[in-house]
Amino acid sequence: MPRVTFLPDGKTIDVRLGTTLLAAARMAGVGVRTRCGGVMGCLMCKVSVRDGSAVSPPQEGERRKMGAGAGGMRLSCQAKALGDVTVEVPEDPLKAAVRKQLERQKEDEDLW
Ligand code: FES
Repeated sequence: MPRVTFLPDGKTIDVRLGTTLLAAARMAGVGVRTRCGGVMGCLMCKVSVRDGSAVSPPQEGERRKMGAGAGGMRLSCQAKALGDVTVEVPEDPLKAAVRKQLERQKEDEDLW
């Protein structure tokens, strides 16, 4: 039974062999952005896989959509857990923008 660990949350879940990383994230309560529901239509579910050998290799459709040089980035709705794997979920762009704004405000407040 593969064990999937999600960073930066550090949440871990045991899943059935072949479970997609998106499904594992949902079971673990980890937020992965998606709009298409897992049919490779939105490309919003990208995650960084630490050990690519522990997940299924990208199929033709995913390779075409992700392009060459995707590095360890995978579509979580397509990558299936085949072994213990650690996955890094990128920060939501909206949350990142809010966090940066709050950090700037805090710095400005500290100046006074
Ligand atoms: S969920 Fe839309 S591409 Fe993966």
